[in-house]
Amino acid sequence: MNRDVKHEKLLQWVQEVADMCRPDSVSWCDGSREEYNRLMTLAVNSGSAIPLKKRPNCFLFRSDPSDVARVEDRTYISTRDRIDAGPTNNWVNPDELKATMRVLYQGCMKGRTMYVIPFSMGPIGSPISKVGIEITDSPYVVCNMHTMTRVGTKVMEVLGEDGEFIPCLHSVGAPLEPGQKDVSWPCAPMEKKYISHFPEENLIWSFGSGYGGNALLGKKCLALRIASAMARREGWMAEHMLILRLTSPGGKQYHICAAFPSACGKTNLAMLQTTIEGWKCETVGDDIAWMKIGPDGRLYAINPEAGFFGVAPGTSYDSNPMAMDTLHENVIFTNCALTDDGDVWWEGMGGEPPAHAVDWKGRDWTPSGKEVAAHANSRFTAPASQCPCICSDWEKPEGVPIDIFIFGGRRAGVVPLVSEAFGWDHGVYLGATASSETTAANIGDIGALRRDPFAMKPFCGYNMGDYFQHWLEMGDKLGNKAPRIFYVNWFRKSPEGKFLWPGFGDNSRVLKWMCERIEGKVSARQTPIGLLPNESDLDLKGLRIPQENLEELLKVDIDAWRAEIPNLEAHFAQFGDRLPQRMKKQLDELKERLKK
Ligand code: OXD
Ligand code: MN
Repeated sequence: MNRDVKHEKLLQWVQEVADMCRPDSVSWCDGSREEYNRLMTLAVNSGSAIPLKKRPNCFLFRSDPSDVARVEDRTYISTRDRIDAGPTNNWVNPDELKATMRVLYQGCMKGRTMYVIPFSMGPIGSPISKVGIEITDSPYVVCNMHTMTRVGTKVMEVLGEDGEFIPCLHSVGAPLEPGQKDVSWPCAPMEKKYISHFPEENLIWSFGSGYGGNALLGKKCLALRIASAMARREGWMAEHMLILRLTSPGGKQYHICAAFPSACGKTNLAMLQTTIEGWKCETVGDDIAWMKIGPDGRLYAINPEAGFFGVAPGTSYDSNPMAMDTLHENVIFTNCALTDDGDVWWEGMGGEPPAHAVDWKGRDWTPSGKEVAAHANSRFTAPASQCPCICSDWEKPEGVPIDIFIFGGRRAGVVPLVSEAFGWDHGVYLGATASSETTAANIGDIGALRRDPFAMKPFCGYNMGDYFQHWLEMGDKLGNKAPRIFYVNWFRKSPEGKFLWPGFGDNSRVLKWMCERIEGKVSARQTPIGLLPNESDLDLKGLRIPQENLEELLKVDIDAWRAEIPNLEAHFAQFGDRLPQRMKKQLDELKERLKK
């Protein structure tokens, strides 16, 4: 055990885990560069990481083909009463789940080192930040945690002798017998994977997967599932939202939080480069926002993460030049393709595909083959500080004041480019009914419609009906200081399947309309589904877009909306009496407006 650590509760927990998992040794992480380099060297020597000749201090990992994404079917919110997990979460009683997992954890780290990672979600010492301790037997996880969170001795100082921490236990679930050679990506079979959360005791147990959100427990597990439950108890918000700053030509700053389901371009929007003169966009965070009401009564947000764990395919100098320029050095790539000259490649990177590469499964690949070279959910792990458009004050402890919330999803039809909520309750209704067509980052049928309230369906650590109520109550507390709420859909398509809106940098035109709505500088027309811009309210200077596209983008098709009602009713019905009356009222009012 570590003699410098004086925190009894922490020492006791680490000892208990070591007794159960029986690692060969225990290593306390200090978050240093030396530690990162040492673990990467180990990974390279064992064959699980490939250094990239073209990018300094960058490494490529290939996962086991069965371990490529978050596993929603194997993710549990384990509360004493099933109803408190709600209809959108998998549930098992905590005693039963712990008993099952204890059997799996028994001796699961044999032949491996157990790492203890003290980390802070949020700038160390910020009043909004929280400390977690992840125990893992994966050096890959340690290195990723170095980038995605703040790891190390400073965190231990904040913790002191009795500070609060969130215990996060992780094992890849692949013990080694004496003399057994390790594989390059150890993990357990699907039926043994468990990503378990015990929100009533702020505890995370993850077993069997080494990938992303299943294994980097600070991210989805702590910063969303556990934090959302803590936030409800403590009166703040933990949301699946990017944070960006838009600055007007007059120098006025607007801060926007936006929630989209996985793989709907959140990272692209967070790093957007505007196409409108004089307006500037900068990034605070690309995935998660933690928000508290500040002394002036406004809502302040921090990005609890320190890095980006972004989807690689589709990232290019056209779609997201700022992300591309974040990736030159100090990056971990997972499941991307390897080019012959020692670089990574993925579909949608722009330019000519390489004539030959090694695909994410380690096989020879040429463009004429049928399979993709990079897995659709291949990722980069990069320090946020390397992003050229990161706000210079993105780590300020008090956070940034939020002016605007945006919800949205990927819908080929029905949902217009943008609408503004009539008020807070209507905005909460828009978040509660958000829908999207699925993609590869979330397991399921690609292209199926899924209601994903607040983009939190896979991440809400308690009953989603209670979560809607928490949003309503936050609005009551914020009163007239509450952010304005909008809903967007960048993904409208023509019947021929062509996108109607150019998206990417041109989304700044829509953001500008939102800011000008706040200032009362532009108008909007009242429709049954919300307030929509007139064409003349949008700044379309320099944009060549067919008139019929614009009309379609800003049209409200009453019949199509009426046709959504049964689906909306079924969506709300699942929450039973946990659905706030105020949400039901919103749906009733929508139905009335659509009748006229
Ligand atoms: C992510 C996700 O990885 O939402 O951010 O799936
Ligand atoms: Mn996400």
